[in-house]
Amino acid sequence: MTANGYPPFRRFRRFRQTEGLRKLARETVINPEDFVYPMFITSGTGVRREVPSMPGVFQVSIDQLPAEMSELRSLGITSVLLFGIPDEKDELGSSGYREDGIIQQAVRTIKGVDDEITVITDVCNCEYTSHGHCGVLHGEEILNDESLELLVKSAVSHAAAGADVVAPSDMMDGRVAVIRQGLDQAGFANTPILSYAAKYASAFYGPFRDAAESVPEFGDRRSHQMDPANRREAFREIEADIDEGADGIIVKPAMTYLDVVSGARERFDVPIAAYNVSGEYAMIKAAAQNGWIDEQRVILETMLSMKRAGANLIITYHAKEVAAWLQGQERQVGAVVG
Ligand code: PBG
Repeated sequence: MTANGYPPFRRFRRFRQTEGLRKLARETVINPEDFVYPMFITSGTGVRREVPSMPGVFQVSIDQLPAEMSELRSLGITSVLLFGIPDEKDELGSSGYREDGIIQQAVRTIKGVDDEITVITDVCNCEYTSHGHCGVLHGEEILNDESLELLVKSAVSHAAAGADVVAPSDMMDGRVAVIRQGLDQAGFANTPILSYAAKYASAFYGPFRDAAESVPEFGDRRSHQMDPANRREAFREIEADIDEGADGIIVKPAMTYLDVVSGARERFDVPIAAYNVSGEYAMIKAAAQNGWIDEQRVILETMLSMKRAGANLIITYHAKEVAAWLQGQERQVGAVVG
């Protein structure tokens, strides 16, 4: 019995009384270095085209990249993930691996202005094929093994342009093994592979497909991306990718798959990225624009949830605004969220 006659109980509130105490007890902290900022690169000059379903996200032309890099640097963000929107698309997505392709030019430009920005490139065919599918087609079937060579060509051409990391997002089986072999043979043994290992066939990619102009002409991506109903299968995918040579893995989407992030963290010791995808971004922006939620607090809480689940890296379109808030506030976001 305690002094006031009540049975004994724990006083969790002791550490919640002041911000100073809360800071001492805080388990998860967000820093701008945790973020990877995704960018959509398009041809032309002077282009800054806002994606309608993603307010604050722009398709930008290559000449905009130096200014973009200095903005990111001033915010403390040091890594980007690049998606290309090519002028020409064909059946085999050949503009994806041309030396003067949109991504290859963008990588060279970024590396030319700021060598210390870590440039990660998305490796997939869907932005480059006329049919919008991730591989070679036979009728309406997406062929697995026949698509691998194209992915290798893209990955090698990105590395040759100076990419620091390649991130295959296609979900063909065996692609990590084949890309690793291709990179090694081309002299890029030191280029890491960050594989989208657990990538689900998700409706949350909707706005991205507008942004990257990669809506499939027919059908969907369920023959290669994972079934949203499956969790254990994700760990087999991740294990296989690590065995094949992945240096880090991505779980995607993030918010509706935090159980997968958390389970992956318990099982695997590689760096884990959570991809906070376009639909997740769009939902928050839409609710905020309607005045239905406290935008800043909701976004910061979302960022915390991904790190708390076990992600080291957060790939997010919110990166710039969050980094700015962190600068304006303290670098511990709990101060803002709490
Ligand atoms: C494929 C790719 C996609 C995304 C990243 N890489 C789209 C898809 O699989 O259809 C989605 C990212 C997002 O929704 O933010 N190149």
